[in-house]
Amino acid sequence: MALVKQAMIAVTAAVIFALVYGEGVDPNCLGCLCEASTKCNASTACHTPYPGAYFCGPFLISWAYWADADKPIIEGDNAEQKGAFERCVQDLYCGAETVRRYMAKFLDDCNGDGAVTCIDVIRTHKFGREGCGGVIQQGDKFWSQYQECETRLSL
Ligand SMILES: *[C@@H]1O[C@H](CO)[C@@H](O)[C@H](O)[C@H]1NC(C)=O
Repeated sequence: MALVKQAMIAVTAAVIFALVYGEGVDPNCLGCLCEASTKCNASTACHTPYPGAYFCGPFLISWAYWADADKPIIEGDNAEQKGAFERCVQDLYCGAETVRRYMAKFLDDCNGDGAVTCIDVIRTHKFGREGCGGVIQQGDKFWSQYQECETRLSL
């Protein structure tokens, strides 16, 4: 258990490091988003949790989300080529870039508290650009994982 936790913190640190060089969303916030989504497991494959849903990579990104983010690609790839979506969002850097671009376009004060904070990023990621003010279910794992990270990093 301690080892798993150590590994997880190392991964999060790597993500945060990777994200420091980007613009926009606070790197710590992106790190916590990654942890909340998959414990920031970079090996997270694509999966279909329920019919019609298809989520990939450490940030659990859907094709529509990636398209809304203007289809970022890994170096040398072609956005219109089959698999470009999967190749990008399963890559920690490209996945993070997808989140950043999505937020650059759609991030807003979702919960109406007068400030745009990491909570709004989390909400926009989970609920999408429409309906980011939605109700977070009690006991939601994504949410509790985020809160644990938020406390640990003093976000
Ligand atoms: C990460 O995800 C892969 C693929 O789902 C899984 O095999 C692996 O055990 C996971 N690693 C951790 C540390 O959870």
